[in-house]
Amino acid sequence: MDASSTPTARADSYSFVPLGTPPTVVGGEGNHLILADGRRILDGAGGAIVNNIGYGRPEIAAAASSVLTGAAYVLPTWATDARLSLIERLTDRWLPSGLTRGILVAGGSESVDSAMRIARQHHIAKGNQDKWKILGRQISYHGATLASLAVANHDRRREPFGQLLLDMAKIDVFEADAAIKTIEAEDPSTVAAIIGEPVIGASGAAISPADDYWTKLRQYCSENDILLIVDEVMTGVGRTGVKFGIEHWGVAPDILVGSKGLGGGYAPIGGVFATEAVVAPMTDRVMYFTFSGSDVTCAIADTVLQILEDEKLVDRCSEMGAMLMSKLKSRLGNHPHVVDIRGKGLLIGIELTKDRDTGASFNGMLTNAVVEEAMTHDTWIYPAGCSAVPDALLYGPSFTVTEAELEQLVDVTAASLDSALNRMV
Ligand SMILES: Cc1ncc(COP(=O)(O)O)c(C=O)c1O
Repeated sequence: MDASSTPTARADSYSFVPLGTPPTVVGGEGNHLILADGRRILDGAGGAIVNNIGYGRPEIAAAASSVLTGAAYVLPTWATDARLSLIERLTDRWLPSGLTRGILVAGGSESVDSAMRIARQHHIAKGNQDKWKILGRQISYHGATLASLAVANHDRRREPFGQLLLDMAKIDVFEADAAIKTIEAEDPSTVAAIIGEPVIGASGAAISPADDYWTKLRQYCSENDILLIVDEVMTGVGRTGVKFGIEHWGVAPDILVGSKGLGGGYAPIGGVFATEAVVAPMTDRVMYFTFSGSDVTCAIADTVLQILEDEKLVDRCSEMGAMLMSKLKSRLGNHPHVVDIRGKGLLIGIELTKDRDTGASFNGMLTNAVVEEAMTHDTWIYPAGCSAVPDALLYGPSFTVTEAELEQLVDVTAASLDSALNRMV
């Protein structure tokens, strides 16, 4: 074999910017990824909080192949059985009530971009030309396109692109009164929508707001003709132990965006779902992406939802989440470098610090070191955080995770945290 075709050399050249050799994955089985060197990695984060039914499900391959042998590509504005079945299953059985309209896209950023355009189109159609601002939140991530970066506040990811991003105000993530104060300062008659993650994922490592946050914001939005968009790209499709995260607060959004778990990691798919009241005034089509709602992704997503239903995996997510939370708290709750362990269902975060008393931070370096150490123990944990939450780990395993696998996650975290700290001081 010539040297340039060894697994390591091939993986080196896959990296667009040379940042070290990425793992080369050759297979997946249950809750493990299999690497080229034969190691089996316990996936403690479903990749990027995506996989929820485990790897290697034969039903998914069958659903995909049945579609691919027919009309492989159909214009996104045309109906197909796969598209209709998925939208019907979502609106009948999954989405919060009131969300009866949906369009499909190919990922989370696309769903956020589309929701922003829909909010603007809605207000223009009602004659509210002045309503154009879309306010995000102070700790948030909504995607990698310039529009989704602009409404989010993940400063590490936004940093190089400052001048390219529309300057949208950011509201408080903990207290509704503080959030409303910012909207008032922006002038609510210019605000088209606010967007927020029910439980903050990548940037905050599973932060929830005060109990009355979403209800108060809901009421304020209704009184001021502002659309409430919930970003359930990470929290949706059972991840927090209920079908969609906003259900924990009993609040009905105007628009909901979802992705990640909708395709269970088997298909790039996302969706934007809205109430009749959002859609009713609109007369123009919503712009589509060429690969919006491709049939194969719809058939796969429909099968993922079917598996979640048949195997009662949302309930299992809630149970296994409670188990992981309790194991993490009993092992690491008093650790001198752990600030908080929090989350809902199988979306659980650990916030880390350099010094609990002074609040000094390792600025993300501890996170990276722990994640690296964990990989040497064949375990993947997701690195989370932004400058407001400088060091944090995020757990989001498949809902099929076993108790023994949760034990491994906790053991590896504890060992990796200690060896990372030893390396850093
Ligand atoms: C809450 C949230 N919204 C949007 C996105 C963007 O999704 P994608 O990476 O599929 O474009 C992410 C990705 O992590 C996310 O966590």
